[in-house]
Amino acid sequence: MSFYSLNYNNLVRIIRQTKNLLPVKIMNEYIPFHKPMITDDEVNEVVDAVRSGWWTMGPKVIRFEKKFNQYIGSRYSVSANSWTAAAHLSCEAIGLKKDDEVIVPSFTFTATAEIVCYFGAKPVIVDVQQDSFNIDPVKIEAAITNKTKAIIPVHYGGNPCDMDEILDIAKRYNLKIIEDAAHALPASYKGKKIGTIGDVTCFSFYVTKTLAAGEGGMLCTNNEEISDRCSLMRLHGINKDSWKRYSDEGTWYYEVVAPGFKYNFNDIHASLCLAQLSKIDLMLQMRKEIYDKYNSAFMDNELIKTYNIKSDRSSSYHLYPILLDIDKLSINRSRFIEELKEKGIGSSVHFIPLYRHPFYQTNFQFEKNNYPVSEFIYPRIVTLPIWPAMNELQIDRVADAVNCLTNKYKK
Ligand SMILES: Cc1ncc(COP(=O)(O)O)c(C=O)c1O
Repeated sequence: MSFYSLNYNNLVRIIRQTKNLLPVKIMNEYIPFHKPMITDDEVNEVVDAVRSGWWTMGPKVIRFEKKFNQYIGSRYSVSANSWTAAAHLSCEAIGLKKDDEVIVPSFTFTATAEIVCYFGAKPVIVDVQQDSFNIDPVKIEAAITNKTKAIIPVHYGGNPCDMDEILDIAKRYNLKIIEDAAHALPASYKGKKIGTIGDVTCFSFYVTKTLAAGEGGMLCTNNEEISDRCSLMRLHGINKDSWKRYSDEGTWYYEVVAPGFKYNFNDIHASLCLAQLSKIDLMLQMRKEIYDKYNSAFMDNELIKTYNIKSDRSSSYHLYPILLDIDKLSINRSRFIEELKEKGIGSSVHFIPLYRHPFYQTNFQFEKNNYPVSEFIYPRIVTLPIWPAMNELQIDRVADAVNCLTNKYKK
């Protein structure tokens, strides 16, 4: 029976309910923080790419870009070899320059801010909201100066930011919006898919992401100029279809018109993306089920807080963060993570606030005191495993371990 001949309910039942069949060794097996969902589709697509001999950017990349574009409903989609590459291209395309300022949230990965530094521009780190861990629009407005060029909102954990407020600010101050949607595939805001809202939106296909290829990225935009510039710059600044030059459709002649980058995607990773994209909604439903199960398991636990997704938006459920009520516990967050590990459960922290890293402190002198919400969240936050193929036993083990530890260390 093939993967796709099973309907969703049967498939989830089979994947989830394997616990009664599992030997004791597997019942105690380590539950990693993340594991991509791998089926024969991924294997077959990769084998096909390898056998085809197109190992760099070729027909599978082009097919993936088209399918991704259709799925998001954006006018243009340009692939790259990571989110970081896609976002660097986007910043270049909007004309970011030395000494410009770009507003970014405190709760994100360094890539969001480092791309700004590539230009000699300044990332201006802004505090987040306590209920969503997303950038606070009120604080964005307070951080705007006459050097501000753009805002990079991050849809934390796949939960969309307050885009209406952010769009309004961008319009009033004439700023560009580059959305960091590394976590937000698929997600939507007021009925609009993330990828269709800001000037540019960048996605990541890093191994832990909701569409996992190991490495990879995509930028979506409705702006033709941005799309053309990014397509040009991702492959050495040589003309658009230069990737075809070794095929029967191509020609040996090309012209370099700009000092571009070597940021193109490739057919081997694109084949993983094609296989993953075909089950992107299924994987979303599977993560949503885990999210719901955790929510009910933690409902009566007063020592942890879960986060809020407003009813006008839908999340990709990429992360499941909890906040420990450390004032009522005789254990700190780091020790809590260690104890989860001793129980065979991988967890993580998303994120160490940017302004706490030596690079941002040394170069931009951010003051901890300006980030009261981040300073509250950081010592309390733990992110739990939420990958689609987790079975019921694994979901129960994670929830039980969290409840058991908070109970054990209750003051
Ligand atoms: C919020 C966020 N932005 C950007 C990135 C960078 O993505 P990539 O590894 O594809 O460059 C990550 C990766 O972890 C991320 O979590």
